[in-house]
Amino acid sequence: MDWDEFAHWGKHIADWSADYHKTLSDRPVRAQTKPGEIAAQLPCTPPEGAEKMETVLADFERIVMPGITHWQHPRFFAYFPANAAPPSMLAEMLVTTIAAQCMLWQTSPAATEVEGVMIDWLRQALELPNGYTGVIQDSASSATLSAVLTMRERATGYTGNRQGLFGKGNLRIYCSDQVHSSIDRACWVAGIGQENLRKLPASGPRHSLDINALKEAIAADRAAGHIPAGVIAVTGGTGVGGSDELGPVLEVARQENLYTHLDAAWAGAAMICPEFRSDFWMGVEGYDSIVFNPHKWLGAQFDCSVQFLSDPEPQLNTLKIEPEYLKTSGDAVTNYSEWTIPLGRRFRALKIWFLIRSYGLDCLRQRIRNHVAWSREICEKIRAMDGFEIVTEPVLSLFSFRCPGDDAAQQRLVDALNDDGRIYLTQGAFQGRKIIRFQVGQFDTTREDVLEAAEVIQDVWRKLR
Ligand SMILES: Cc1ncc(COP(=O)(O)O)c(C=O)c1O
Repeated sequence: MDWDEFAHWGKHIADWSADYHKTLSDRPVRAQTKPGEIAAQLPCTPPEGAEKMETVLADFERIVMPGITHWQHPRFFAYFPANAAPPSMLAEMLVTTIAAQCMLWQTSPAATEVEGVMIDWLRQALELPNGYTGVIQDSASSATLSAVLTMRERATGYTGNRQGLFGKGNLRIYCSDQVHSSIDRACWVAGIGQENLRKLPASGPRHSLDINALKEAIAADRAAGHIPAGVIAVTGGTGVGGSDELGPVLEVARQENLYTHLDAAWAGAAMICPEFRSDFWMGVEGYDSIVFNPHKWLGAQFDCSVQFLSDPEPQLNTLKIEPEYLKTSGDAVTNYSEWTIPLGRRFRALKIWFLIRSYGLDCLRQRIRNHVAWSREICEKIRAMDGFEIVTEPVLSLFSFRCPGDDAAQQRLVDALNDDGRIYLTQGAFQGRKIIRFQVGQFDTTREDVLEAAEVIQDVWRKLR
């Protein structure tokens, strides 16, 4: 393909993309294909000769598109959103075109310097204190793994990387039972072990970590000769939005000299709205590490996860490695690959720059406020449905409900809704029962889209009965 052909197809794809988004609402949200159906349409062997782009794109429409679940669909109410605001998509096109590998300052100074400034813009937007720096990672899972590795190294006097963990005793990490599975996985991969992740009961209206249980667990572990290494708090847990009391958790961690990480992967975006901070952000100042994903609710195209650090030194002491081929000479510069596990880095900051400049914080705030308000509205509509029960009240824009019947009935309703295709919901578990989660957060969703979901639920439920 030469660059003139590239320009031709690039324009074609840009038009296709705009049409796709304009007509998204007419498509079923969740892919309606059966397992294996897409793969069966692909040849088993690669072509020896070149094929025309017309043919490849026609097959893309025919074979691939039916197997896509539409995350940008305005009636996507499952999981958490993975938004892609148009300006952030344009930035990604530029990033793809430049295709720079931004591991070191000198491998693209602009990428490093824009990243530093974007982290500071977001720090201000989230009202984190001056002094926090940070790094953009691919996912909250990677940021959490970095923090857990830092907990491990700090608790072992930075000897784990060199000596391994054998003979170092049981390192313990504490969190509530509302944390995302990425915390479990970080503990597996870091060699801490699932049994050394102390998941303590959450309670109260926000499903928060029990502070006394935290204190008791740490004391009991010390008495048993274990080594407390860190505490992981959560703001906006995946299941039902569980959110810890950040100040009291931090106080205990500090008294015990434990490293702290806060997972605000989803709810962090809502902290650009000052009115939500008193409930969800009080006491955030002082956490050693905080992760939030602009690719979830804020609108930066996936993938984009910001890890704020009050002091980068512990993480650098844990992850920095500098073979000769990565050394750079000259003035002191930031090489962000030293802050993270992967060496290679995409230029992720550009989409944050495009996003924030195109909308301004005010407009981004308004979207989130709308989502929260509409979530409360539909929650009331579902509460009023005959025999339906709200299991957990809205935490920001997430709540959960049950239809009449047992756990199997909940799954039947979720499956029937997703087969119907007008909306997309997913199930969860809370206090031993199956629940149906509902979150509002798709970038372009409207109040009508959200309220339509209540009618769809009612309609599909009636048909099921
Ligand atoms: C609260 C929370 N933390 C962490 C994650 C993991 O995020 P990522 O996919 O960026 O690793 C999720 C994913 O939805 C989440 O909801």
